Amino acid sequence: MAHIVGGLATSHVPSIGTAIAKHETETPYWKPFFDAFKPVHTWLDQTKPDIAVVLYNDHGLNFFLNTMPTFALGAAATYANADEGWGIPVLPSFTGEPRLSWHLANALVDKEFDIATCQEMLVDHAFTLPMKLMFPNAGDRWPVKVVPVSINSIQHPLPSPHRCWKLGNVIGEAVRSWKSDAKVVVVATGGLSHQLDGTRAGFINADFDRFCLDAIVDHPGSLVRLSTAEIIEKAGSQGVELMTWIAMRGALPNEVSHISSTYHVPVSNTGGAVLLLDTASQPSAAPERVEHRVEA
Ligand code: DHB
Ligand code: FE
Repeated sequence: MAHIVGGLATSHVPSIGTAIAKHETETPYWKPFFDAFKPVHTWLDQTKPDIAVVLYNDHGLNFFLNTMPTFALGAAATYANADEGWGIPVLPSFTGEPRLSWHLANALVDKEFDIATCQEMLVDHAFTLPMKLMFPNAGDRWPVKVVPVSINSIQHPLPSPHRCWKLGNVIGEAVRSWKSDAKVVVVATGGLSHQLDGTRAGFINADFDRFCLDAIVDHPGSLVRLSTAEIIEKAGSQGVELMTWIAMRGALPNEVSHISSTYHVPVSNTGGAVLLLDTASQPSAAPERVEHRVEA
């Protein structure tokens, strides 16, 4: 059976792509965020996953307000990126794993998740930049196949934290029941707290972000119990991207090893966070926890 080797969660602001393109990753502003991926690279070198199931939210590249699925599952052989207008280079296409996609589709529909299945799907910065952060030297051949899962975080009504947790539960069970010896990493992208519009534009809640970084590891129930409105109140209207983290955690077993977490604020308009969990039950060492605050 396929094996989930771990879970990675990261923020996904478009300016990560510009920082890479402009060779600014070592500047004081960006270095702490990019350094958060050093333990991730070590872990990826050791675990060598074959497939990434990526929980993210599309921001208008593939779905727009006229057609907005609550949950959309990629079932394509390849996924292209395209220009979103942020000024970031378009990244090479990703190879899909349709056999796992359809296995997930069967399991999800069987468990009453009526997902949209997408045999054509463009993937935006929320998908591509975390992949580039994980595999900075990939060139045009990514070392993993991918299954994208988009969770609507854009147009209300949004799925609740509890619904996203259950989605993760079903994805996790389905991966573990897939007849394959593939190693799968579950990736979540988005958050943490941020609000890009309205009277609270620029809102970041570092205390809540720190709470989330602990809760995701040790007591996800305290996030799963929140309503969507409570997440928005605490994390901002785009902080609902936290739903992807909740779904990722739901796909993992209860017992996980906390490999690393980094919190760096601000990264563009967000509380920038990176968290790595391994499914081996015993941590080999205390987790590496790093925190930075850059004053505006
Ligand atoms: C920013 C954050 C996002 O989640 C996003 O999708 C786009 C921009 C930002 O902070 O700039
Ligand atoms: Fe976003």
